Amino acid sequence: MLKLLAGSANEPLAESVASRLSTRLADRELRRFPDGELHVEVRESVRGADTYLLQPTGPPTDANLLELLMLADACRRAGAARLTAVVPYLGYARQDRRATGREPVVARLVADLARAAGIDRAIAVDLHSAALEGFFAMPLEHLSAVPTLAAAVQAQVGRDAVVVAPDLGAARLADYFGELLGLPVAIVHKIRRSGQTVGVRRITGDVQRRTPVIVDDMISTGGTIEAAAQALLTAGCSPTLTVVASHALLVGSAVDRLASLPLQRLVVTDSLSSACSGRLPVEVVGLAPLLADAIGRLYRNESLDSLIAHR
Ligand code: R5P
Repeated sequence: MLKLLAGSANEPLAESVASRLSTRLADRELRRFPDGELHVEVRESVRGADTYLLQPTGPPTDANLLELLMLADACRRAGAARLTAVVPYLGYARQDRRATGREPVVARLVADLARAAGIDRAIAVDLHSAALEGFFAMPLEHLSAVPTLAAAVQAQVGRDAVVVAPDLGAARLADYFGELLGLPVAIVHKIRRSGQTVGVRRITGDVQRRTPVIVDDMISTGGTIEAAAQALLTAGCSPTLTVVASHALLVGSAVDRLASLPLQRLVVTDSLSSACSGRLPVEVVGLAPLLADAIGRLYRNESLDSLIAHR
């Protein structure tokens, strides 16, 4: 028996996944005690069930993460046979190493907490780095939204386009995107000065008079996209930008930053339920088909090969 539960982080996405699986979301209650502590209760039996718990851990990251862990613990104690966390966006993934000497490696801590909460397996989409899989002792199925995003932009992308990775970390994603669309790839060499500000050292690849399609795993403050766009325009790119990202956090001044660019299209997935501003030409591509397909295959013990992120 398959059971699908959702935290509160992205209920519309969870509802769409449930409907594609011809099931419904299992009943659960989330409420706050007067002192602010969260209380969760799974209100129907999951005993013996192959249980899938959908919750992206985007902002508010700590609250969404704890909700996921608490729901997992509740399901485990209630006798779920196998527990799979479906985490379309994994928060803290960028804290995957110590940049200075005295910092935690939070991505590893999150993986350990997931294990401690009784999660047997995880599904994630376009992780910040594919190497994060190694932090998880449990199997982690790393899906990619790139084919879905590429299909969404394909019709409007001309032969003069160039796929651009706005930093080295996005190079694999951009390569995959370029391969699917048959386009060349350029890479912006970014330097991060702080959480909000970044600079550009140089661009590798031919971008002059080409129309850029900037591809990244996430847009947080928009600093990376802004810096890449400005560098591309200075380098003589055509001033009509398409930006594609798997995860639209759009925090801080992201909307202002993106609105100041000659942005023609911003294509993102619904991994996060962030309200997209009417000031941006946003197109949202749904992840429900991909996630429902993956859940269905896992439930039936079928291969996920064609859904896994390009390596
Ligand atoms: C960084 O390596 C990521 O791939 C993104 O480029 C970055 O995290 C986006 O953050 P922001 O929008 O704040 O520059």
